[in-house]
Amino acid sequence: MSSMKVCTTNQALSSSLESLKASDSSLGFVPTMGALHQGHVSLIQKAIAENSLVVVSIFVNPTQFDNKSDLETYPQNLNKDIETISAIGSDKIVVYAPSTQDVYKGDLSKENFDFGGLEHQMEGKHRPGHFDGVATVVYKLLQIVRPDMAYFGEKDFQQLQIVKKLVSVIGASINIIGCPIAREPSGLAMSSRNKRLYNNERKHASKIYQILKSVEQKFETVPISDIRKWVQAQFENDPYINLEYFEISEVSTLESAVTIAPNKKYRAFVAVFIRDVRLIDNIALN
Ligand code: PAJ
Repeated sequence: MSSMKVCTTNQALSSSLESLKASDSSLGFVPTMGALHQGHVSLIQKAIAENSLVVVSIFVNPTQFDNKSDLETYPQNLNKDIETISAIGSDKIVVYAPSTQDVYKGDLSKENFDFGGLEHQMEGKHRPGHFDGVATVVYKLLQIVRPDMAYFGEKDFQQLQIVKKLVSVIGASINIIGCPIAREPSGLAMSSRNKRLYNNERKHASKIYQILKSVEQKFETVPISDIRKWVQAQFENDPYINLEYFEISEVSTLESAVTIAPNKKYRAFVAVFIRDVRLIDNIALN
């Protein structure tokens, strides 16, 4: 049996951390919304490798959902998640699975953050208010957990950049660590929302990564505007997938690239719908 601690209030978490934390220890933090998969597990494993104690939070944050039915259909299974984390087999993990009341204290308003424009690109454009909700909850969770290091997946690359900016804006000394995207054998980026896909849809979904791999190959030889057209045509040919946006962006500003500047890093980003299931993915280009 695992001795893993599960706390449902921030008071219980604080006293648990107080008793477990050695004075010279470093505390790692992996925030999640549950429905855990191998992508989440890879973040937790990295956090365990790099810290003496790790908090994993499981909290479906209502303020970051711009779409009510997306919130309502978001998969939730706390017992299964606790089993998944226990199977990682570490007595160094504390789970924080709070109620909305425990995190928000009855005030569900979100703060309006200025991230210097990062928040207006891509996901920010298509999911109004989403990053205010993300930043509001991450800020609250960081204040509750007070970690030395926090782990975020490159799957949500824009979120990762925004959290780094948040930490610098609030002047916190927390190391934000970006972690590589975990994929299914088909190449499909792991996501809690994949659970909502039917088998035939899942087959089509693997095309997203295939297209991104081709973009990576075309980058630096094919003009960006031609790559865009090519990507649009690929998705138009697939009746299962509706493209929401495709961007090639410079990683520090996330602004859409028109030309390629030397010494700058670029990534390709994509958001699609398969039926009402929204999927995002991205890839490093250089
Ligand atoms: P969630 O979607 O549950 O993701 C939790 C963390 O796991 C995020 O940092 C995300 O980027 C990472 N992740 C998800 N899929 C991944 C994959 N295939 N490979 C690697 N990492 C992956 O992101 C959130 O929750 C929320 O916005 C949160 C930060 C918890 C705030 O509510």
